[in-house]
Amino acid sequence: DTDFPTDDSAAGADTAASRQAGQIPREVARRRTFGIISHPDAGKTTLTEKLLLFSGAIQLAGTVKGRKSGRHATSDWMDIEKQRGISVASSVMQFEFRDHVVNLLDTPGHQDFSEDTYRVLTAVDSALMVIDAAKGVEEQTIKLLDVCRMRATPIVTFMNKMDRETRDPLELLDEVESVLKIECAPVTWPIGMGKNFRGVYHLLKDEIMLFKAGEEKADGAFEIVKGIDNPKLAAMFPLEIEQLKMEVELVHGASHVFDLERFLAGVQTPVFFGSAINNFGVREILSALVDWAPAPRERDATVRDVKPEEPKFSGFVFKIQANMDPAHRDRIAFLRVCSGRFEKGMKVKHLRLGRDVKLSSVVTFMASSREQVEEAYAGDIIGLPNHGNMQIGDSFSEGEMLTFTGIPYFAPDLFRTVRIRNPLKVKQLHKGLQQLGEEGAVQVFKPVLGSDLILGAVGVLQFEVVASRLLNEYGVDAVFESSSISSARWVSSDDKKALGDFENQLGHQVAYDAAGNMAFLATSGVNLRLTQERWPKLTFHATREHA
Ligand code: G4P
Repeated sequence: DTDFPTDDSAAGADTAASRQAGQIPREVARRRTFGIISHPDAGKTTLTEKLLLFSGAIQLAGTVKGRKSGRHATSDWMDIEKQRGISVASSVMQFEFRDHVVNLLDTPGHQDFSEDTYRVLTAVDSALMVIDAAKGVEEQTIKLLDVCRMRATPIVTFMNKMDRETRDPLELLDEVESVLKIECAPVTWPIGMGKNFRGVYHLLKDEIMLFKAGEEKADGAFEIVKGIDNPKLAAMFPLEIEQLKMEVELVHGASHVFDLERFLAGVQTPVFFGSAINNFGVREILSALVDWAPAPRERDATVRDVKPEEPKFSGFVFKIQANMDPAHRDRIAFLRVCSGRFEKGMKVKHLRLGRDVKLSSVVTFMASSREQVEEAYAGDIIGLPNHGNMQIGDSFSEGEMLTFTGIPYFAPDLFRTVRIRNPLKVKQLHKGLQQLGEEGAVQVFKPVLGSDLILGAVGVLQFEVVASRLLNEYGVDAVFESSSISSARWVSSDDKKALGDFENQLGHQVAYDAAGNMAFLATSGVNLRLTQERWPKLTFHATREHA
């Protein structure tokens, strides 16, 4: 439990603080916190495994098979984890690489796709975009990149599956630039593809890394040939070398040169080609993240910007996960450390509740076990067990009133009306939905006219989670039915009269969310567009920041 009062040990803390003075900036500088953005099946899981493998966090011969058969794989991971005493967490994976501490945050995809996927991206400092080179830019990648753009998050791009027949590499870059509106700076360039994939040419180092099918190297140490004009290359690949030289010339002329400032500003992405399943090109992206991606940066906390090197602890909750472990009925709040040093057992202030809490049983997550954390710095993620007293966006500090901003709510894409079988439970239903709405499990809209509640989500799993939690935690057997709503927009205006008129005239489509914000529920894209045109004094927002 995080919730009991503590004694005051401020005297000891001062000495500790001065002792730690140089340590905090050192620890901050060596941290990299990132997430992977990709469309399902692009290779996120494969790449994650290779990153862990490669980082030395685990050592496996060959590929980890049977991931998708579920439980087996998880327990395999658990065994590995126990053997090596390292963390292979599903939500947050922390590992060391070249004296850096890398935090890889999972961005749930497939059927797990939910608002959490978006929110995780508010807790990272950079992102790795994985694209299936046979398919190019896909829908979920577009959405996730939009979220990264809100905070100008630097993006590293990995064009995966070069061991297959892919699309033309230049065409892929064009597509990223035009669809995702981000400049591409190729760093490696593929030589062939599919059966004829020979490797990649490193444009900055002028060297070629040779690919051999089926030859996975756990340490990523593939054979290197220096210099594109090396006669050895011409001898090895008489057919491909001329083509490569031509392409490289084209690329040098037609594409952007890597520029660290532009990358850090989120306007340019360095692009790498490779094959995750063969661990080919993985070391290069990990190096790029360590060498180029930013260490934790300062964060807007409304009253001021908080620097990661500051001695005092602060952080915010970006995700709440319920019942990760069926043996524990609690929920876990994921907190990103923004400054200072977290120490196990320390006392911090829960700023929304104005209450001191002692962080004694703080955890990180390893697949399905929990490991105690002793200390953490900016960029690290810690898990706080709680019993419903924490919400997404909650800020914590050593006393100063800080409110970290930038935890967005996204206009849902999926809608359900909710009905209950037992009308006597209507109070519990409202209470349950209010709490689940505040927690961010689902979005709840109450139309001004009519008694139906409308639930909104970005992934279907959210509805299932809510249904089961309503039943288990609130004793409410709810029925979710399809809704005529197709999209939602939050509405604001300086013109109070216009807002009032809007509500009066469109009461069946105007609703309030769990936090009391006005929203418009549109029945179609046309309906939304026409309404926007008819009400020029109102602004329609696709996102809203957590207040
Ligand atoms: P995801 O997490 O992004 O959804 O993708 P995941 O890693 O599960 O990969 C999706 C499929 O693509 C998997 O095949 C995986 O083996 C394959 N894959 C990933 N990287 C590469 C690559 O570099 N080259 C090739 N040729 N394939 C790659 P699957 O058949 O769906 O699953 P599995 O039976 O292999 O687990």
